[in-house]
This record gives sequence, C-alpha cells and structure tokens, in this order.
Amino acid sequence: MQYKDNSVQNAQPRYRVPFVSLRSAQKDKQFDTILKRIREMYENSQFILGPQVEAFEQSFAQLAGCAHAVGVNSGTDAMILALRALGVGAGDEVITVANSFIASVSAVSLCGATPVLVDVAADYNMDPDALEKAINAKTKAVIVVHLTGMPCRMDRIEEICAAVKVPIIEDAAQAVGATWDGKRVGGIGKVGCFSLHPLKNLHVWGDGGVATTNDPDLAERLRKERNHGLKNRDEVEFFSFNSRLDSVQAIVGLSAVEMLPDVIAQRRKNAALYDSRLRSLKGYLEIPVADPKAFATYHLYVVAAERREALRDHLDKSGVETKIHYPIPAHLQEAARALGIPRGSLPVTEALANKILSLPIHENLQESQILEVCDLIEHFYQRGIA
Ligand SMILES: Cc1ncc(COP(=O)(O)O)c(C=O)c1O
Repeated sequence: MQYKDNSVQNAQPRYRVPFVSLRSAQKDKQFDTILKRIREMYENSQFILGPQVEAFEQSFAQLAGCAHAVGVNSGTDAMILALRALGVGAGDEVITVANSFIASVSAVSLCGATPVLVDVAADYNMDPDALEKAINAKTKAVIVVHLTGMPCRMDRIEEICAAVKVPIIEDAAQAVGATWDGKRVGGIGKVGCFSLHPLKNLHVWGDGGVATTNDPDLAERLRKERNHGLKNRDEVEFFSFNSRLDSVQAIVGLSAVEMLPDVIAQRRKNAALYDSRLRSLKGYLEIPVADPKAFATYHLYVVAAERREALRDHLDKSGVETKIHYPIPAHLQEAARALGIPRGSLPVTEALANKILSLPIHENLQESQILEVCDLIEHFYQRGIA
C-alpha cells in the first residue's frame, strides 16, 4: 500500500532538520520495560483483551478526563464505531470539516450517512457560525476535529449542539492532552476518538486507537462494537467488526502515556520559540492562533505562508523538511465526488489549502534547529528569495 503525507518514514538523511523523529533517549530508556512486559504477556498468553489492554484503557481514561476508554484498532475505527454506537446510518447527516485528514469524512460515509462539510475559522478548526447555519433536523451528530492539537471553540459548539440535542463526537486524533477552558478534549463531547498511529504525540508501534466516553451504556456498546457485537463468548447481539486493540500495542501505549507530559511540554516550548521569532513576519506568514482558553499540544505547527511553494522549496534546499496538512480538502477528493460539494463552497478551507505549511515541531528538535528554520524563513521574506 502506498501512503502519502502521514506515512511513517525514517527521517530522510538529506534533511538536517527532519519533520519526524520517532526515537528519543526517553523512548530508548522505556524499551527494556516494554520488552519485559511483552515477555510477561507472552508467558501468560493473554494476547487479546487481557489485563494489559485494561491497564492501558484505565490510564488513557484518566488522561482524557473520562470515565471510560475503549481500545480499538485505529483512530478511524474509533470514529466508525462511535457513529454506529450513536445510531448513525442511512438518511442521517453528520456535520464535520473538510480541512482535516480524510478519516472523519470517510467514517461518516462508511456508516451510510451523508457528511455535511462546513468551513473553518482562523484557528483552522470548525467555524461555530458555519455549524449553526448548517445544523438541521437531519443532523444526527457533529464531528469536531481538534486539528494540529488546537482545541476547537467548544463552548459555542456545545451550546449550538445542546440547543438541538445533537451529540458531539470529538476527533481528538491529533490532540491528546489538549484542553479547552480547562476541560480535556475527548471528554467534552459524547465520544472522543483518538489515534495511536506512530506519528501521533502518544503512539504505539503500529496502528491503534481509543474511544472515550463518560456514558457507561455507550462504553458498553463500544466494547461490543469493537468485538463482533458479542455480549459474551457465544452470544452476538448485533453484527459488527473485529476492531480490538492488540495487547502488545496496549503495553507500548501504557509507556507512551507516561511520556506524554514531557512530549507536550517540549512541543509547546518549540511552538513558543517559533511564535516569538515568526510573529514579526505578519502579512507574509501567519502563525497559529491560540485562543486564551486553548491549551494546544502542537501535534503540528502550521503556518499560513505567502508564496508557500517557493518558501517550501527554499527550506527544502536548505535541509529543512516540511509537510502540508492537508493539500486537498476532503470535498475536493476524488472519493468525495458523489457528495457533490463544488469547489468554492468552503472558501476559507480552500484558501488555506494553498497557504498552509507544517514546520518541524517534534520534541527532539534542538533550539538551534528551530532558530535555523526561523532564520531561513526571515531570510526568504526579507531578502525576497523566490
Ligand atoms: C485528524 C485525524 N483524524 C483521524 C485520523 C485517523 O487515525 P488512524 O490513522 O489511527 O486511523 C488521523 C490520523 O491520521 C487524524 O490525523
């Protein structure tokens, strides 16, 4: 299978400032503990939904400020199962955004419902005014995406959804540990959906995901949804998938939970350094806008840059690896043609797609590397390199 932007690749040796760095001294230190726990699991042979998965789920629930966490196969599956658990199906509409990874839109389509895509605001996240206009009697759920680790404006979004009793699903795949007004993402809406993909701030050694909720009945339903609809070993309540989190990944995930505070602290420090240096380039390059109520975790550091392609080329030639998250908004993807949402429908999303650029922000960056990136960007705009 050919992956694109979200692939897990080893850092390209030609980059002095790589976009991704998956190894660290802290992770190396955890390696032996993880192997020891895997050996214990092997000796007990509890490979599926054993105590390791339970231990991980408990610690993840605490992290998300939720009563329940259900380990599943991926962040995408977490959303599909959440939609199914909320009874979303054919004839329903689910409102979400096009400025994201495709998973939220595809999850809605795969449940047989219709994705309704609304525009984003200056924080790159769902514009509450656009949501308010789009919500109607057919809306069965709203999926907000806390893109880049920047929490959505949840107070207004909650208000709008509560008024018409529509549940909120939080796509918190990029935002583990983020908070809005002191509330942890994943625990604000009805269900929180997290990805444990290797590029995420909290990751395992393959695919994995978590669905979180404070509703015990929904948690019970999600546990059945991930396991063939089984209510016990022999009785099947409804047809569903096998989307269980592997015990091996749960062991890795448990260590990752322990490391998360350091990862977030370092990423926030890196973001603050970028902010302080790049703020003066306003007009050429816009830095991320964090609301005072937002505690962002900077899974990504996305700027909106004039002459984006030329800047990207300049950085690339100077050994700085960048990415674009995401160059083609969901409604303009070939897969979404049947939705019939024409170009021009989401002007902010479409304009951003031509300007956004993700700078390296990972926790293993040295201060000198960030300063070098900033120097290169300043040089590009001040001396007119194009
Ligand atoms: C915003 C967003 N939602 C959903 C997903 C899907 O997660 P997964 O890759 O674990 O299925 C991702 C991961 O790429 C993501 O970035």
